[in-house]
Amino acid sequence: MLAEIKKSAEKFAPRLIEIRRHLHAHPELSGEEHQTSAYIAGVLSSCGLNVTEAVGKTGVIGDLAGSGSDSRTLAIRTDMDALPIQEHLELDFASRQPGIMHACGHDVHATLGLGTAMVLSQLSGKLPGNIRFLFQPAEEIALGAKWMVEDGVMEGVDAIYGVHVFPSIPVRRVGIRYGALTSAADELEIVIQGESGHGARPHQAIDAIWIASQVITTLQQAISRTQNPLHPIVLSIGQIEGGRAPNIIADYVRMVGTVRSLHPESHANLPQWVENIVQGICQTYGAKCQVNYRRGVPSVHNDQILTQIIETATREAWGDDSVQILPDPSLGAEDFAIYLDKVPGCMFRLGVGHQNKTNYPLHHPKFEVDEDAILTGVVTMAYAACKYWQVAA
Ligand code: NI
Repeated sequence: MLAEIKKSAEKFAPRLIEIRRHLHAHPELSGEEHQTSAYIAGVLSSCGLNVTEAVGKTGVIGDLAGSGSDSRTLAIRTDMDALPIQEHLELDFASRQPGIMHACGHDVHATLGLGTAMVLSQLSGKLPGNIRFLFQPAEEIALGAKWMVEDGVMEGVDAIYGVHVFPSIPVRRVGIRYGALTSAADELEIVIQGESGHGARPHQAIDAIWIASQVITTLQQAISRTQNPLHPIVLSIGQIEGGRAPNIIADYVRMVGTVRSLHPESHANLPQWVENIVQGICQTYGAKCQVNYRRGVPSVHNDQILTQIIETATREAWGDDSVQILPDPSLGAEDFAIYLDKVPGCMFRLGVGHQNKTNYPLHHPKFEVDEDAILTGVVTMAYAACKYWQVAA
């Protein structure tokens, strides 16, 4: 099976580079992936897949039927949206959309989904069960997975794979992590209402700016004293506004921030924990407050068996050196986690780092992948999909 997959992927490789370059030159923002999804639907149809468009607003599904001997369905999810960044690369296929760029590699992800569909469509008689390819919009605004799930794409699906490129992993390598891969990301808004007064007479006022500074300091200190140190949490206040003049005590402060956590227990407790601290401080100093804690995406937690399948597939396809076991999870967020609320799954990282060139990070205007990664990604994904039917019970 492996030899067949490799041969077929090598045959398709030049076409896949073309596809990736087309997608790179025509990036579209989150929720506006109209041309991208039409293009993807066209490629999927030409491989004989059953295509459904306009799923999850601008998403696409491609269904590949297996031989029918196994009733399970495996989903493979790739995303396809770009970012509001002006590209600073001099490439023949550089972005033709001013101010929009595939700076997170979702052009490569969509290509990997298509490549895997091309390779597996040639083997479909030999696949015991069905494969559903999900081309998801709006990952960058963490809404696309929710839209897809709301439209029922996970009905009848038993497991899911996803992939993200990573410039700090060299090309031809696959980054694997068991358990937590990315963090939960919640949003926090705190509004403090004090009472205005003269800057010279603080005792006649309730200083919202001073109280806000107590809130920020206490939240940071309380993480280290009241939260389990083995369960990482990052709380960052990224924006703060309040006050009008040097000699007027501010009666109002609003601040917003992000809260990242890896452990489900911390994630569950954080809204009440923040509320208690903020209320306690504001009450002590006579201010009123409002805490709006908005749950974002949960943590991506990779399933043991499905991760093992990716690891074994990588070792067999590319040798032991190609596997990079990732020691740490990331406090970044990924809405792939939304699918994992429904079924077990695994997201792996695909190395796209150039050997002798600066590798700029994701979301950088000079982010550039080594395209050799496409072959590695397609073979790994297709071979892992074949193994799923043998291993996962
Ligand atoms: Ni991304």
